[in-house]
Parts: sequence; C-alpha cells; structure tokens
Amino acid sequence: MDDYRVLNKASWDERAPAHAASVDYAVERFVADPEFLSDVVRFDLPLLGDVRGLRGVHLQCHIGTDTISLSRLGARMTGLDFSAAALEQARALVARTGDDVDFVEADVYDAVDVLGAGSYDLVFTGIGALCWLPSVERWAATVAGLLRPGGRLFIREGHPVLWSIDEGRTDALTIGHSYFEQAEPFVWTEGGTYVETNAEFVHNTTHEWNRGLGEIVTALLGSGMELTGLAEHDSVPWLALPGQMTRTPDGKEWRLADRPERLPASYTLQAVKR
Ligand SMILES: C[S@@+](CC[C@H](N)C(=O)[O-])C[C@H]1O[C@@H](n2cnc3c(N)ncnc32)[C@H](O)[C@@H]1O
Repeated sequence: MDDYRVLNKASWDERAPAHAASVDYAVERFVADPEFLSDVVRFDLPLLGDVRGLRGVHLQCHIGTDTISLSRLGARMTGLDFSAAALEQARALVARTGDDVDFVEADVYDAVDVLGAGSYDLVFTGIGALCWLPSVERWAATVAGLLRPGGRLFIREGHPVLWSIDEGRTDALTIGHSYFEQAEPFVWTEGGTYVETNAEFVHNTTHEWNRGLGEIVTALLGSGMELTGLAEHDSVPWLALPGQMTRTPDGKEWRLADRPERLPASYTLQAVKR
C-alpha cells in the first residue's frame, strides 16, 4: 500500500468506533426509527430527486449512515470503504436496523475492479471524501467506470475554497493552503476528530489533497460525464473553521458567523454518464 493509504487508513480505523458511539452520527436514531435519515441526506433531498429502484454505490461510505439513508429512500445500496473498522460499524448497524445494504472493503481506485464496470445507476459520495484521494482524474475515471450510460453522480462535498482557508487564523479569512491539486499532499497531524468524543487517538497523521472546482469538473468531463448541476452552499455539516462558524438556524450545519455570503463552504455537483 502507498504510504498515504497506510496513514489514512490507520487514522480512520481508529476513529470509526468513536464516530459510531457519538451523538453526531445518531446511530441509535437509525435503530429506533426505520424512517430516520442522516442530516446529510436530508440536506440533499431537494436536489437528489427520486432514487427509488436505483442500483446505487456510496463511495467512502464510512460507518454507513448515509448509505442506509439512501436505502431507506428506495435505492438498492452498496457502500464501499477501505476502513475495515468503519465497515464493521456499518455492518453492525444494519444487523440491528434490518436495512438491506451491502458493504464492501476496497480502495476507491479499485472500485471498478471490485464492483464491476457499468454496474450502477447512481454513484453517491462526498462530505469529506475527495480530500483523501491524490488524483481527481483517477477518481472521475472510477466514477464513470462504475456507472452505466445514463447513470448519474451525486456529490456534495466541502468546497475547495473552504479547504484552502487557513483554519488557524480566526481574525480574518486567509487563504493558507493550495486550491489547485498538488502532487504532494498536505500532511496534517491532529489528535481529534470532527464529532464530540472523549476518545483519544494515536494515529493522528494524515495525507490530504485539495483541487479546484474547475479541476473537478474538467476531470469528470474528460471521463465521459456530462455536468447536469452545480450548486454552491454557504454551509457545511461539520465545524470546519472553529472560532469563525456558527450553527445554521436548524442546528444541522455550520456557516461563517460573520457575513457567511463571503465563503462557499460546500457544493453539490451532479453529472450523468454519456
Ligand atoms: C469523512 S468519512 C466519509 C464521509 C461520509 N460522508 C460520512 O461522514 O459518513 C471519509 C471516509 O473515506 C474513507 N477513505 C479514505 N480514503 C479512502 C480510500 N482511498 N479508499 C476508500 N475509502 C477511503 C475513510 O475510511 C472514511 O470512512
């Protein structure tokens, strides 16, 4: 395995049980209410449209809460992730809820080999997914490879402008990191995670990448996808800039406390395989 995969996988394997135990992922609400949907998928609903009957794959599904939500909306879902520990949580959750979802352990870039070319009507991904992958072109080729002609991609993701902001500067919005994709990763060493937890972690160094919106769109067009939607949002589902963000009125997202119209915090991109 490449170094970035070893490091990133160790970090995710360690965090998955803490995420499943946290109130933020609301695992117990999925068990208690068979119609409960994750806040992420609930946010997506106005743009997502009807997914009933679609064969869907959720790339980088983590502990499966969004995957299960899509299944509850009527799609026949498979979740893929390279973290065995995350999938253990996902499988334990469907064992309790009875949702009919498959989970497959694989690297994103191996997804076509593992799941089959042209096998899906819907590829769903995002909310902290693209940043773990070194090449957006390889990701776009993977998405296109998984879809049948006419199948569609739905991604809501942290905005590359948000990811270029220096989160250490709380006095002003400052571009501190690359916007465009670089060969070399950002190397982060951070002890915590994005949910409320008392858990302590030892695998704290990760490798991550950013890329611009134009690079993402160009990679998809170059892989045989046609762009059908691109919306930018001023909010994001996690506290991305501590000290500068406040919760949205519904309590489910975070946006800049001061003039949120200055920052695109996330985007929803949709594309169809030609
Ligand atoms: C922030 S989480 C997923 C986001 C998802 N929206 C959620 O919150 O449930 C990122 C996931 O990407 C997975 N991941 C990172 N790099 C990967 C890779 N190269 N192949 C497959 N999965 C990967 C991690 O294991 C982790 O579960």
